[in-house]
Amino acid sequence: MYQLRGLLEEAQSNGVAIGHFNISDWILLKAVFASAQELKVPVIVGASEGEREFLGVAQVAALVKSLREERDFPIFLNADHTHSLESAITAAKAGFDSIVYDLSALPFEENIKQTKQAVEALKSINPLIIVEGEIGNIGTGSEIHESVPDSSKELTTPEEARQFVESTGIDVLAPAVGNSHGMLQAMVQGDAKKRLNLARIQEIKSACKCLLTLHGGSGTEDSDLRGAIAAGINIIHINTELRIAWRRGLEDAFAKKPLEVVPYKLLPVAERSVRQVVTARLRLFNQERDSIAQ
Ligand code: G3H
Ligand code: ZN
Repeated sequence: MYQLRGLLEEAQSNGVAIGHFNISDWILLKAVFASAQELKVPVIVGASEGEREFLGVAQVAALVKSLREERDFPIFLNADHTHSLESAITAAKAGFDSIVYDLSALPFEENIKQTKQAVEALKSINPLIIVEGEIGNIGTGSEIHESVPDSSKELTTPEEARQFVESTGIDVLAPAVGNSHGMLQAMVQGDAKKRLNLARIQEIKSACKCLLTLHGGSGTEDSDLRGAIAAGINIIHINTELRIAWRRGLEDAFAKKPLEVVPYKLLPVAERSVRQVVTARLRLFNQERDSIAQ
């Protein structure tokens, strides 16, 4: 039986990160699973509150459980960006492996108070569940934005990180380190990249000595993602890049086969398009593991 905590600790000692990819349909899930299987690396799929509403909480939990157990593969399910205790509890009871409890929009002290309560409630449902807390503003929405918040101005401080982790009892912290959700049009075209503050990641890691997640990975400079892992990031979230690949794949399939109406003859094109992105990201996040294995 695979345990997410053990695999995160193993990733940390191997100098690699576990990729987290959001899904809102079966095509995305199939693509993520196929890439992870191909590269033989553990993977996390995430479903935010909106994605869960579309997929069905119990239904996505059943799908991921079936892939993990029937194929004996380390794929895990995360309740991404969960804003209420009620929806966190629903996901925990449905068998999600981790919960991102995101009260980052609240004042710091209130975020601490409510996140601590959530950690206690969720661990009483499943003592092995991984709970992640968030501080700082990294914007919302895995979409193509007109502008993204200049998160380089509001970085999480090492002291905030230490205090938050110690006071709440979370397993994983998601800090603001120059990252932001979504992509600008210029990033979609490849003309601009997100940049991270690697020194700040290292300072936060030294201060809180806990597992760290990087949100908003889409459109980030590859060397910064590698640097972030070296500085202490253990999980990297990618969503917008997959959504773009999904849409391009569908458009491509429809354009090439204008009279085709059989879904399973059209949808594999979208699956392949998403899979290319996931495979490239997983290779980057697991580079150290690859070089050790060679
Ligand atoms: O939780 C999901 C993410 O942080 C993904 O962000 O859409 O910028 O890749 P992204
Ligand atoms: Zn996120």
